[in-house]
Amino acid sequence: MDKRIAVIGAGPSGLAQLRAFQSAAAKGAKIPEIVCFEKQANWGGLWNYTWRTGLDQYGEPVHGSMYRYLWSNGPKEGLEFADYSFEEHFGKQIASYPPRAVLFDYIEGRVNKAGVRDWIRFETAVRMVTWDKNTRKFTVTVQDLPKDHCYSEEFDHVIVASGHFSTPNVPEFPGFDRFNGRILHAHDFRDAREFIGKDILLIGTSYSAEDIGSQCWKYGAKSVTNSYRTAPMGFDWPANWEEKPLLEKVEINTATFKDGSTKRIDAIILCTGYKHHFPFLPDDLRLRTANRLATADLYKGVAYVHNPNLFYIGMQDQWFTFNMFDAQAWWARDVILGRIKVPADKKALVADVEARVAGEDAGKDSYDAIRYQGDYVKELIAETDYPSFDVDGANEAFFEWKKHKKKGIMEFRNHSYRSVITGTMAPPHHTPWKDALDDSLESYLGAAETTAAAE
Ligand SMILES: Cc1cc2nc3c(=O)[nH]c(=O)nc-3n(C[C@H](O)[C@H](O)[C@H](O)COP(=O)(O)OP(=O)(O)OC[C@H]3O[C@@H](n4cnc5c(N)ncnc54)[C@H](O)[C@@H]3O)c2cc1C
Ligand SMILES: NC(=O)c1ccc[n+]([C@@H]2O[C@H](COP(=O)([O-])OP(=O)(O)OC[C@H]3O[C@@H](n4cnc5c(N)ncnc54)[C@H](OP(=O)(O)O)[C@@H]3O)[C@@H](O)[C@H]2O)c1
Repeated sequence: MDKRIAVIGAGPSGLAQLRAFQSAAAKGAKIPEIVCFEKQANWGGLWNYTWRTGLDQYGEPVHGSMYRYLWSNGPKEGLEFADYSFEEHFGKQIASYPPRAVLFDYIEGRVNKAGVRDWIRFETAVRMVTWDKNTRKFTVTVQDLPKDHCYSEEFDHVIVASGHFSTPNVPEFPGFDRFNGRILHAHDFRDAREFIGKDILLIGTSYSAEDIGSQCWKYGAKSVTNSYRTAPMGFDWPANWEEKPLLEKVEINTATFKDGSTKRIDAIILCTGYKHHFPFLPDDLRLRTANRLATADLYKGVAYVHNPNLFYIGMQDQWFTFNMFDAQAWWARDVILGRIKVPADKKALVADVEARVAGEDAGKDSYDAIRYQGDYVKELIAETDYPSFDVDGANEAFFEWKKHKKKGIMEFRNHSYRSVITGTMAPPHHTPWKDALDDSLESYLGAAETTAAAE
């Protein structure tokens, strides 16, 4: 196996790819040379927290969209690695909604055990990828950021795992240029304490709006107003939280909404989602897709239909995350190792994409969407040696999670679920989420909340 493979990004998707190859090697397979390019100084992708916003020390757009005090928004039982349980990592079962630092530790534990860190060139940004149809090779041009040195190397396959929640979608509303306060996108939100005592306006109704609003409420915002384009979130919000139709304009510090109502506000946070953005890919290789479960142009959700030597991991909208990236990475690995054949006929690849789109469109609600993505995970793992796990059980955890959110949006993280990998029930967390101000790993795993540490 004298092939060379480039993996772009060492977040959960890229790391899944490294672990997939290492696991084949551990079972005696000959594997290609793997080179992973990561522009940050450490692995973990979004889970590698940075205080930075805007541009980093090298002038690179900051990748991080996570913020302090972020806790998992879904139960960990829906994302657990089938080959590395939470119990294996922590030596005990832990509560179901870990904060960011705990999940970072878990992600890192598996790849430390696999010993793949040497495969990664850190602080190396991919600048361009081209395909030569005569040599059937990719040329990957990168920049070593500390050395300020660009160079190119050839590869047989490229696997894009650069994430798609880092380039913000930033609409503008009339009056923004004269607003007397801070306007930011969720991508640049870092610390809820900035908004203590403030009246904040959030645009959007998805996870960022729900979670950033909840955090600001938890840490002491005076009020939260949430503006929706399509429909309100409809949770049973606390008394100082209201939902309004879409923002029409702002004048100095007054927001006016589509129904004519107004509200005085101090800051605006655009929770308006992200764009798939691949500035390092030319037109013939660049995925153009909406953020949905059935992406455009990816056979089996992974191989690029216009050039199946190129793979994309983790480009779907996500109910399932880490275990879905694993399913995709094991599948891409097996194509590269010649264990799985991709049809040579492009029409078959396109037909696969169309069937996936139709399958997603046939769903009626988010329960169907969860089942749909669960079925996709099942489909891929059935084709590889990724350890089989109870995907229906993970679906059930998501269904319960949705019901718990409906019951109490500020209480859902106090619930526990059963691991589909080890069968163990998670213990309840020692402190209700709304009172747990310290999100450190030590506090989460310890017996008592060390609130003082957060002050
Ligand atoms: C605010 C927020 C909260 C989230 N919370 C949860 C949660 O609670 N639970 C959950 O399961 N999921 C959550 N997610 C979803 C998240 O997308 C996944 O958990 C996961 O991080 C995706 O992994 P990834 O590797 O595909 O992408 P990323 O984590 O984005 O990693 C991509 C990596 O590629 C690198 N990269 C990008 N461009 C280049 C380049 N040109 N050259 C070299 N390297 C490059 C980046 O530096 C980064 O390390 C959240 C997402 C956001 C935005
Ligand atoms: N704690 C956590 O774990 C956590 C926290 C935050 C985010 N996340 C993750 O981050 C990812 C991204 O979530 P997200 O909420 O940022 O993005 P998203 O799910 O794509 O949602 C985007 C939202 O922006 C709205 N929107 C887009 N353009 C608009 C416009 N021009 N005017 C008004 N509204 C507009 C959309 O409204 P319509 O419905 O009208 O289209 C939608 O409500 C998800 O995977 C999520 O799980 C996790």
